[in-house]
Amino acid sequence: MSTRHYLDHAATTPPRPAAMAAFSAASTGQNASSLHADGRAARSALEQARDTVAECLGASPSEVVFTSGGTESDNIGILGAARAARAAGKQAVVAVSAAEHHSVLDSAAQAAKEGGRVVTIDVDPDGVPLSGEIEEIAAGVAETPDEFLVLGAMVANNEIGTITNTVDIARALAGTEAHLHADAVQAAGHIPVDFSASGAHSMSISGHKFGAPMGIGALLIRRDAPVQPLGFGGGQERDLRSGSVNVPGAVAMATALKEATEELERSAQALVALRDRLIDGIRNAVPGAELVGPEGRGESDRRLPGNVNMLFPGREGESMLTLLDQAGISCSTGSACTAGVAEASHVALATGFEVSDAKSVLRFSLGWTSTDADIDATIAAIGDVADKARRPDVARSRLRPGR
Ligand SMILES: Cc1ncc(COP(=O)(O)O)c(C=O)c1O
Repeated sequence: MSTRHYLDHAATTPPRPAAMAAFSAASTGQNASSLHADGRAARSALEQARDTVAECLGASPSEVVFTSGGTESDNIGILGAARAARAAGKQAVVAVSAAEHHSVLDSAAQAAKEGGRVVTIDVDPDGVPLSGEIEEIAAGVAETPDEFLVLGAMVANNEIGTITNTVDIARALAGTEAHLHADAVQAAGHIPVDFSASGAHSMSISGHKFGAPMGIGALLIRRDAPVQPLGFGGGQERDLRSGSVNVPGAVAMATALKEATEELERSAQALVALRDRLIDGIRNAVPGAELVGPEGRGESDRRLPGNVNMLFPGREGESMLTLLDQAGISCSTGSACTAGVAEASHVALATGFEVSDAKSVLRFSLGWTSTDADIDATIAAIGDVADKARRPDVARSRLRPGR
């Protein structure tokens, strides 16, 4: 059987052996809410996991609410905050950057259906929300006593890897009644994340992005941030999230996060080297291929260590993905796939690409199992794949001026 090369870590990264061992050890079949000794043992394992997650992310344990993953955390962080504002007699103004993940964008859309006002913040060509627009929105809300601002901004973009400093956003909100929700799903375990220093009121993380099994995540949330639950029941997690807590998942996530955090500096360096070699190799093999998002490199590296997103002008991204798949390489298009129809990536569109170009992007994402062999195989295959995937009907479309 030929070797496969996995370059889709941003979708899900393989579980770390230590996390799976911890999952297995914590799978005692006990409920952390049970009052007997077995239940208390599960509770103790859960609270240790909470302490570890908090410590790795600069939060206090009481700020960690376990959830099922990034989507649920984003839903609570945005829609839960909007509902709390409404319950307090205010209109929620939900401002989200155009490059957010759908779990944030769709939470904002739901808030609009419930009477909120949604504002989309434009992003620059690298995907960073425009600070001038944030300041304007914040100033508008500050002048309107019956409005409350809920702002969603991602720490790292899942498609183009752009890292955004939430501290700058929090500064722009000073003096405005606001809730800043930071989506750190692609950041946690990959770059340093410090919740207390981030200026955010809530922050989402997801275990399967850094080596825990799927189905576990967390919402970090300040004790003083008013947020309403979206699900109802036993209120196990701070009355914000109901349902028997996934103890093995939480323990595995804490183990994976600790390991990822401990090796972060070394692994980031190794990934940056692989990342930049892949970018150079693709550029050499496919004339005209362009890097989407920040160039990275050196001191001003604002790109996730494991993210490579390339535009292949005149090619269908989906065809390239299929051809690479046949060559044993797993990667992803930047686009969402709805009912089998590939859509242009909303992130590529938000950063200024035409629809035709936005369908010509591929994301290669690296992670803790990535090797030189993965990069070599991709560089070796990409020229041929790009030739075969040419769209003779599509002339090179023009990018928006200023890119
Ligand atoms: C930036 C970002 N936010 C949220 C999510 C949703 O996370 P989950 O898959 O854990 O629901 C993802 C997943 O791809 C993501 O990349």
